[in-house]
Amino acid sequence: MIFILLLLLFLTCCVSGTFVVNVTQASYQAEENQNITLEWTFSTRTSLKSVYIVCEMFTETRISVLFHLHQGVESPESQDPQFAGRVQWDKDVLTEGRLTLHVSRLRTSDSGFYVCDILIKSEGRNSRRCWLNVTAAAEPRPLTQTVKPHQKIQGIIALYIGLGISAVALLALFVSLTLSFLRPVYTTGIEKA
Ligand SMILES: *[C@@H]1O[C@H](CO)[C@@H](O)[C@H](O)[C@H]1NC(C)=O
Ligand SMILES: *[C@@H]1O[C@H](CO)[C@@H](O)[C@H](O)[C@H]1NC(C)=O
Ligand SMILES: *[C@@H]1O[C@H](CO)[C@@H](O)[C@H](O)[C@H]1NC(C)=O
Repeated sequence: MIFILLLLLFLTCCVSGTFVVNVTQASYQAEENQNITLEWTFSTRTSLKSVYIVCEMFTETRISVLFHLHQGVESPESQDPQFAGRVQWDKDVLTEGRLTLHVSRLRTSDSGFYVCDILIKSEGRNSRRCWLNVTAAAEPRPLTQTVKPHQKIQGIIALYIGLGISAVALLALFVSLTLSFLRPVYTTGIEKA
């Protein structure tokens, strides 16, 4: 019962609040190793000290914190190691109602949706999400993945030619060894006869 009351209280607080958080782009598309700027906007100007933010990335299997701001101060210890040293924010625009997160050296594992929960003291709290899709870099990858069928066949032909040459060489070596081994026997046999 108490739980339901608390839940109702929580819902009314946040639904009726006039504090609005938006995203400037609902989804972003990027390639591996590129940098990107994810942006959220909110409806008030504020002092840094009143700002609390938690931004998380959601995939089907996990949730990772990429940004945590407490009273305007970043707390990197809450950040998931996946994002360590790759997320930068802009203090100046935050007080104007824009949260910009520069994520550098993107990885395909950064794909997912990003939720920033923004709380401004005595204003309200709200959150919004956007999608990020990071695709693998288009440049050719070494070996295994890009071996084409005809390259495979060429490889096999080369292998057979190589094997053939070695077989002939081995045979020649065998024949010459046998001959050089037999010759003395012949000659000595002839001498004795
Ligand atoms: C948020 O988006 C809605 C609809 O797109 C728009 O009406 C509103 O002005 C936006 N608010 C902010 C703070 O950007
Ligand atoms: C991406 O960001 C990193 C670190 O902030 C920077 O060193 C690099 O030059 C940026 N690359 C591009 C293409 O902007
Ligand atoms: C991500 O981008 C690729 C290439 O544009 C596309 O094929 C794929 O459907 C996208 N995935 C999602 C989840 O949007």
